[in-house]
Amino acid sequence: MAANPAQTEVKKRPDVDGFLHQSVQDLLSLKGRTVVITGGARGLGLAFGFAVAESGGNIAIIDFLETPHEHYYKLEKDFGVKVKLYKSDVTNYKVLKATFDQIILDFGRIDGLVTAAGICPDEPFLERDPESVARCFHVNTLGTYYSAQLAAIQMDKQEPNERTGGKGSIVLIASVAAYVASKGQTTSDYCSSKGAVVALAKALGVELASKKIRVNSISPGYMVTDMTLDLCDRMPWLADIMNNEPPMRRMGDRTDLKVPVVYLLSDASAYHTSDDLLITGGIHAGRLM
Ligand SMILES: NC(=O)c1ccc[n+]([C@@H]2O[C@H](COP(=O)([O-])OP(=O)(O)OC[C@H]3O[C@@H](n4cnc5c(N)ncnc54)[C@H](O)[C@@H]3O)[C@@H](O)[C@H]2O)c1
Repeated sequence: MAANPAQTEVKKRPDVDGFLHQSVQDLLSLKGRTVVITGGARGLGLAFGFAVAESGGNIAIIDFLETPHEHYYKLEKDFGVKVKLYKSDVTNYKVLKATFDQIILDFGRIDGLVTAAGICPDEPFLERDPESVARCFHVNTLGTYYSAQLAAIQMDKQEPNERTGGKGSIVLIASVAAYVASKGQTTSDYCSSKGAVVALAKALGVELASKKIRVNSISPGYMVTDMTLDLCDRMPWLADIMNNEPPMRRMGDRTDLKVPVVYLLSDASAYHTSDDLLITGGIHAGRLM
């Protein structure tokens, strides 16, 4: 046998026909998996909960809110999966760790994490109060960091998936604001806090690859939620920007994010890590007005 000049470990010959044995439906299934969603009591996070439930996964939601959006109760009863809501605060490490401990007791494992807890102050840079800036970074960046760490610690202890060898998938919710300033808004802290989230996904994807944990982010553009609709009602010029600036000339619907989040959480993306999916109607590449 020829010598191995690189002195690397010689791996078993891969199954060249493996792709014949897994259907797209199987790859996208989250059946039996447990996914933690921060900020899932309303908005994008709640829609991610529906996407996970429709794919057969169990859901543990972590949120600050006392009362979730009314759709939460539909999520709880319509899909035959386990759903639980934990009132907690992603900025408080001690409290958040206790919540993750309780989730592990209740669900037994964590296969996926989606970090949708976030806030978006809109105040001019020159007038910013340091406490309010710190709050934004605490929720958007540190809250994401803490949640990813607590999920990864648990994933690392778990048995790997038989087919992919993976132990878990983490999806951080960033924003197109990580790439381009938001027209009509003054969101310096939000933009920079989300830039940090994109960078975090890249760094963690590399660092945790040897632990068989994948990390990616999704950067949505302007998405229709109760909050953005309310914002558009109060500031009609923002509605104009959000609907007309994206090259596709519409705001995103939460439906547009359902399959991307399931893809990143599932075995369908087994070889995909350290990436950011920009789902923006094209706005990250250029604007129409
Ligand atoms: N809606 C959009 O157009 C849009 C676009 C790009 C990115 N995003 C990002 O997506 C994420 C969700 O946005 P959304 O529009 O659904 O907002 P939202 O305000 O409707 O939902 C955010 C949720 O996070 C929770 N939360 C806030 N602080 C928390 C804390 N300290 N601990 C626990 N939970 C906390 C809130 O209670 C709320 O339920 C955010 O990170 C946001 O920056 C939203």
